[in-house]
Formats: sequence, C-alpha cells, structure tokens
Amino acid sequence: MNLQKVRFGIIGCGRIAERHARHIINQGQLTATCDIDSVRAKAIATIGEATAWSDINTFLSENKGKMDVVSVCSPNGLHAEHTIAALKQGYHVLCEKPMAISVEECGRMINEAEHANRRLFIVKQNRFNPPVEALKKAIDEGHLGRIFSVQLSCFWNRNDQYYQTSDWKGKKKMDGGTLFTQFSHFIDLLYWLIGDIKSVKGFTRNFAHQDTIEFEDTGVMALKFDNGAIGTLNYTVNSHQKNMEGSITVFGEKGTVKIGGQYLNELEYQNIRNYRIDHLPRGAVANDYGTYQGSMSNHDKVYKNLISVLTREGVIATNGFEGLKTVEIIDKIYSKTR
Ligand SMILES: NC(=O)c1ccc[n+]([C@@H]2O[C@H](COP(=O)([O-])OP(=O)(O)OC[C@H]3O[C@@H](n4cnc5c(N)ncnc54)[C@H](O)[C@@H]3O)[C@@H](O)[C@H]2O)c1
Repeated sequence: MNLQKVRFGIIGCGRIAERHARHIINQGQLTATCDIDSVRAKAIATIGEATAWSDINTFLSENKGKMDVVSVCSPNGLHAEHTIAALKQGYHVLCEKPMAISVEECGRMINEAEHANRRLFIVKQNRFNPPVEALKKAIDEGHLGRIFSVQLSCFWNRNDQYYQTSDWKGKKKMDGGTLFTQFSHFIDLLYWLIGDIKSVKGFTRNFAHQDTIEFEDTGVMALKFDNGAIGTLNYTVNSHQKNMEGSITVFGEKGTVKIGGQYLNELEYQNIRNYRIDHLPRGAVANDYGTYQGSMSNHDKVYKNLISVLTREGVIATNGFEGLKTVEIIDKIYSKTR
C-alpha cells in the first residue's frame, strides 16, 4: 500500500479519542468521527476539520474511498462489534486496549481481519516506554539469562467519582473488570517480557467500591509461566487519593531489573552481569484526564508504527494475536479468582 497521507476515522469520541485525534492530525488526516452523542462527535471532528456522524453504519458506508483506517475508541464491550463492522466495510482498524473483553470476541475480530484482508492493530503503548523497550532488548539478547521470577505491581487510584461520571466504567458488561480497563497494558507486558501464563492462583475483592463497580477493586495473584518462571501480580485502584506505582521487577540468573515510577516509566534498579541499560531517552508524560491520570502517552508511537506498516510494509507493534493473548490471560485470572 502506498498512501500519501493515511486517512482516519474515529468511533467513540470520549476522553482518549482526543489524544487519537491530535496524533492523527500530526501524522495523517482525520476524515470523520462517530459517536452516539453528536456533540462529542462534533467536538473531536473540529480538531481535524472532519465530518461528524452519530450512526456507525452511515459513518462507515458514507466514507468509503475517503477513509483508510478506523480507530476504535468506544467502551471495551463494543470493541468487537465496532472493529468487525469497520473491517467488513474494508477499513483497517486500530483498536484501543483491551482488544475486547472475551477471547471469543477477539477470535471473531482476528477472523474478520483475515477474511477482509485488512490490518488489525491493538493499542499497547506501554511497550514504547523507554525503560520497558530497554528491558525487552536485554531479555531478548540473553543478558538476564534464564528468567526465574517476576513481580508486577499496579497501585493506582480510581475514586467513586471516576466511575459515577461514566455510563460504562465499573459495569461488568461494558468494562469487564479492573484488569481490562486499568491494567491490561501491564498484563500485556508480562506476556511480552516473560511469556505466556500456564496457571494462576489468587484472590480478588471489592473493598472500597461496593456502590460503584460490579467487580473487584483489588487482586493478588500467584502466576506460573509456560517457561518455568513464577511471579506475582498485586493490583488495586485503592491507592490512597492518587496513583502510586506501576512497576515490574524481573529476577534472572544473570541480573535483576526494576522498572517503576507511577507508569512503568523509570528504571529504578539494575544489576546485570557485564551489561548496563544506559542513555535512556526521556519518556512521554502520562495521559492526564484532569481528575485522574492514565498510562504513558505513547500514542504518537502507535500511530507512527501503524503508518509505517501501511505505507512501507513495517511490522505491526501489537497485532490481533497479541491483543488476544492479554485477554486470554485476564480471562484465565478471572476464571480462577472471581
Ligand atoms: N490506551 C490508553 O491509555 C487508554 C486510555 C484511556 C482509555 N482507553 C480505552 O479507550 C476506550 C474509551 O475510553 P474513554 O476513557 O475514552 O471512554 P469515554 O467514556 O470517555 O468515551 C467513550 C465514547 O464512546 C461513545 N460511545 C458509546 N457507545 C457508542 C456507540 N455505540 N457508537 C459510537 N460511540 C459510542 C460514548 O458516547 C463516549 O463518547 C476504552 O476501551 C478504554 O479502555 C485507553
């Protein structure tokens, strides 16, 4: 495919859509937006002088020939439906994380991409955090040797107001669970850095959000990986008043590394035999939503990757299969602990 400027549409014009729109206009063209709330669709459309639509079917059919990619930024529970609809109409799709909230939905999305012969990209922007990229390289090049164990800590704050001001966050059917909406990026990194998970034991509880969310606000897990490594996952949205930490510590036979900060953005510790992670570029700041913060804002790199794939045959940073693996692992955790 040799396109001059990749042309995008966005479905779901809420908080994260604005970030998508800003990166789209920097790197491509925003053609059209769609939201059941027409005010929101128009607000995001104005960022790129795009047309705004409130019905997905007309948005998809009327923009044929004018749009190449649809960015799906709707609630988690609609990702499969919206992705499949866009693929069926011949568009490539960039789907926000989590890919979907069931393995079955992910399977249908991958099948449709194959059937339509279109590309399916999944947003996993934490892979682009400089210390995370450096750790991946160190592991892949064998500098840590065999990986023995790992500890993943996700200590964030999401208060009642966060859930009360959303019509889908905290609802099982549209949100799926805390691992889907808050921490699926982190689960993706477990898979990307360490490997697939064989078995899980653990507990989940809803301690402080009984009136606002339909699932756990806290979980503690012990994990066994396919490659023999073992690990722990400790996550909560009850960190007092604010986000505290998003960290991963890896213990290998030749080295120990901890990446921490609030968003897996700082190399906090390294002790590796005959190797040093050095000269890390400054990372991006976190996505700031006013009353709360999210993951690192690396969506520019997500779009850069997508455009390179569509225009120069680059390699997809996170494809549908890898998006599915995250959902599969979360499903495994929930099926054992809920
Ligand atoms: N990668 C990241 O760091 C990151 C950060 C935040 C959110 N997200 C993901 O992005 C998605 C959106 O999250 P958000 O925080 O922007 O949510 P949001 O509630 O602010 O926005 C969702 C939008 O989708 C619209 N919508 C609902 N049903 C629709 C339909 N049938 N057709 C068209 N539009 C519809 C809503 O009106 C709303 O404007 C979620 O999947 C979330 O997990 C990713």
